[in-house]
Amino acid sequence: MMSPQGSPEPAPGVVRFYNFVPEGNAFLEDVLAGLALPQKSVPPKYFYDERGSRLFEAICELPEYYPTRTEMAIMRAHIAEMAQLAGPEAELIEFGSGAGIKTRILIEALRPPIYVPVDIDGAMLRAASDQLSRLFPWLNIIGICADYSRALALPEFVGAPIARKAVFFPGSTIGNFTPEEALEFLRRTRSLAGAGGALLVGVDLKKDKAVLDAAYDDSQGVTAQFNLNLLRRINRELGGDFQLARFAHRAFYDDAKGRIEMHLESLYAQFVRIAGRRFDFAPGETIHTEISCKYTAAEFIELARDARFESKKVWTDERQMFSVHGMIAV
Ligand code: AVJ
Repeated sequence: MMSPQGSPEPAPGVVRFYNFVPEGNAFLEDVLAGLALPQKSVPPKYFYDERGSRLFEAICELPEYYPTRTEMAIMRAHIAEMAQLAGPEAELIEFGSGAGIKTRILIEALRPPIYVPVDIDGAMLRAASDQLSRLFPWLNIIGICADYSRALALPEFVGAPIARKAVFFPGSTIGNFTPEEALEFLRRTRSLAGAGGALLVGVDLKKDKAVLDAAYDDSQGVTAQFNLNLLRRINRELGGDFQLARFAHRAFYDDAKGRIEMHLESLYAQFVRIAGRRFDFAPGETIHTEISCKYTAAEFIELARDARFESKKVWTDERQMFSVHGMIAV
């Protein structure tokens, strides 16, 4: 087929989905187990119901929350070099699928024969894939609904020639893992990518505590709403009876640990019921909801080297706020 301009029209891509999320209510199990621990905790992946995802998008617009816009600027400035590192005919795998602008500019520059978004949220995955397939009708898209914090085997795609795999993990989401978990994740990613595979990963940099504290405890209270939304979600989906006004958002940078910690602090002695179970809170007791680890460029290079990724390039902004690492599996 020819386009009106006379250039050959690429064949339309296929769009397919696989669901690797096990049956059962993982949210309920994780909440009941996490709240039974001496330090109560709930994994941060549960922030992202519909309202949570909208609140996170609002966070990305906040003046104090620099990571999203800084990573975007770094990518815009260096996208050609990034695409070159990933190489032609790369199968592009993205963790935490985005229909976001970062994904779009990378696809535009790289023009991969196949794009494999991996996300735990199936509805989000389908919406994002739909949007991308309208923008890039030639693109093959294989959506994988899965929890990428666990081991993962991807189906092989045989519909197009693939020279290598390129993994894209933007946003500094890798900061939600402890360094030990990040190493495990990088090792699994290394075996997924195979020798010669590329990794493009966004990593937030260590910096002044005041800047980090403000980024996670903004003046408009959007991050507080995002954190408290977890309790709202437990109430709605698991029949909990949290009273949100009885808990407060706490977020602070721990210099020694090199990480942000987010908690929900009980303001009173109280108890909460979830699915017939009772959980007691002392005044000041917290539910630990998130960590966001920060690295120097050298620290992250070192960590990734232990997973057999060789650093090829670190792109940063002028003020050294954020980094994007380009690595190759050796
Ligand atoms: C989506 C994990 C990258 O850690 O900065 C933003 C989540 N939490 N504000 C981060 C988040 C509070 C965000 N990540």
